[in-house]
Amino acid sequence: MLRAFGAKIHFGAHVYSSVKIWAPWNLKMEKGSCLGPHVICYNQALVTLNENAIVSQYAYLCSAGHSANRLISASFGLIVSTITIDKNAWVGTRAYINMGVEIGEGAVVGATASVFKDVEPWTVVGGNPAKFIKRRKLKDD
Ligand SMILES: CC(C)(COP(=O)(O)OP(=O)(O)OC[C@H]1O[C@@H](n2cnc3c(N)ncnc32)[C@H](O)[C@@H]1OP(=O)(O)O)[C@@H](O)C(=O)NCCC(=O)NCCS
Repeated sequence: MLRAFGAKIHFGAHVYSSVKIWAPWNLKMEKGSCLGPHVICYNQALVTLNENAIVSQYAYLCSAGHSANRLISASFGLIVSTITIDKNAWVGTRAYINMGVEIGEGAVVGATASVFKDVEPWTVVGGNPAKFIKRRKLKDD
């Protein structure tokens, strides 16, 4: 159904049925990527999940808002900007990702974090506003 409305979703990607997607034509998902249960994808601008990028339950991907400096104009200063979640990155549950943000390759956004700036590859961030916690170290299982 999403593809019928213009979403570019690889057949190896997964979207849970409870996900809310504002504009399917502004969604791109590569192989192995996933939008988890109850994620809200407010994609007035393009939202991209690259390979194996995971977004967990109740996260909010917010690609639009209003300019705090132009609130009296007729359009309330609508602004939109893309969101990109790079390969192997993980956005934890109830995280908020603001417009214009890129979550770098392999990065982890901790549960409930609010992210307003790009996240460096292979780092873990958390809190509101999200701050660097540590570098991600991979171990062989
Ligand atoms: C980010 C996360 C992966 C880090 O896990 P971890 O590597 O085991 O890290 P630790 O628990 O050792 O925490 C390291 C530090 O970061 C802090 N921290 C961990 N998660 C945090 C978060 N979400 N927000 C803010 N701070 C966080 C810890 O309090 C700790 O601080 P300290 O060094 O001052 O004691 C994990 O805490 C998390 O948020 N997981 C998300 C779970 C989730 O969304 N599940 C959805 C279903 S899959």
